[in-house]
Amino acid sequence: MLKAQEIKKDVYWIGAVDYESRNFHGYSLSPRGTTYNNYLILDEKKTIFDTVKPEHAGFSLERLASVINPAEIDYLVINHAEADHAGALPDFIAACRPECVFCSPMGQKALEGHFRAWKNWPLKVVKSGDVISLGKRSVHFLETRMLHWPDSMFSYIPEDRLLFSNDAFGQNIASSERFADEISREVLLSAMSEYYHNIVLPYSQQVLKVLAQVGEMGLDIDMIAPDHGLIFRGKEDAAFVLKTYRRFAEQKPGKRAVIVYDTMWYSTQTMAYAVAEGLGAAGVPARIMSLKDNHHSAVMSEVARCGLVMVGSPTHNNGILPFVSGFLTYMKGLRPQNRLGGVFGSFGWSGECVKIISERLADMGFELPADPVKVKYVPDAESLEQCFALGLTLGRALEAKCG
Ligand code: FEO
Repeated sequence: MLKAQEIKKDVYWIGAVDYESRNFHGYSLSPRGTTYNNYLILDEKKTIFDTVKPEHAGFSLERLASVINPAEIDYLVINHAEADHAGALPDFIAACRPECVFCSPMGQKALEGHFRAWKNWPLKVVKSGDVISLGKRSVHFLETRMLHWPDSMFSYIPEDRLLFSNDAFGQNIASSERFADEISREVLLSAMSEYYHNIVLPYSQQVLKVLAQVGEMGLDIDMIAPDHGLIFRGKEDAAFVLKTYRRFAEQKPGKRAVIVYDTMWYSTQTMAYAVAEGLGAAGVPARIMSLKDNHHSAVMSEVARCGLVMVGSPTHNNGILPFVSGFLTYMKGLRPQNRLGGVFGSFGWSGECVKIISERLADMGFELPADPVKVKYVPDAESLEQCFALGLTLGRALEAKCG
């Protein structure tokens, strides 16, 4: 019943749509589900690009079988060894018996580390600049280390002006649409940003390097087909994607703030609201996000557009609350750049909270242009004025930073 979808002449999408997924890779949210895209080219050498998450193997093999007997496949190209793309490789090898499985040098190491059966597989290593012929078409490989793992690579088909970009340019969107121009641009951009800022952000320097390489190579692209979400068709959308990734990777600070906090008996929450008033008075829009009610991945999607991140926690057992600590750990790994930070929190007797948060933000490279505010037990009118002033000062500092 499942069919392959032709996306260019003799080029098919044979992927799986995971409508149920809400947990992407075990650490970030995929509120709209996701897809595991893989592709088939029918040429003299019939070639599949990537597989799918193991539990979705049957869906992809069924789509494949809707256009060709899997036993007629000649080549598999594995652009990335992570389980959502190579996890079904044993199923595909069993069904297709390919002559060659192409992967990058690091891809070979990763496949060897993941699969006991690799010794029996016809792995063939390709590097940046290597080209294989499929007949009328050729596949040009470009290693894209750390986008998203050390083994990742792009496959470019000049005869189709088609780039298989694997994780790069993906979005977590599960839908019956296959092309980005079939949904609202606002939803698309939001999904692209959410994906970038929870998955790709730490590798922004590598993104800029890859974008520069793509520019230097003068690749003529009129379709970008990622392994998650929707496909970008037409030169205009291909250019849109590259431009959007450049903007994400450059991380210019946005004139907005997010106030992230957790609270015990509402003192830190009350402080957060007063800080937001101060930011508003400085003309900086602010969103308050409780870590009890917002997943760290959703907060990070908000951090994406904010040049100022304010973090609040009460002191708890000489430390900070665990949700705040967890969020700081998550954000540190994602390495956001060019941002201001601000700190506040309540305490009862020892009061280490603001020092701990300040040190952790400074360690991540945040500029902290104002002293933190801490309040003993319950904020009074005077301490709420201090919170308001903190928001006002940091709002003005952000205004100056953004220019
Ligand atoms: Fe979509 Fe790095 O896996």
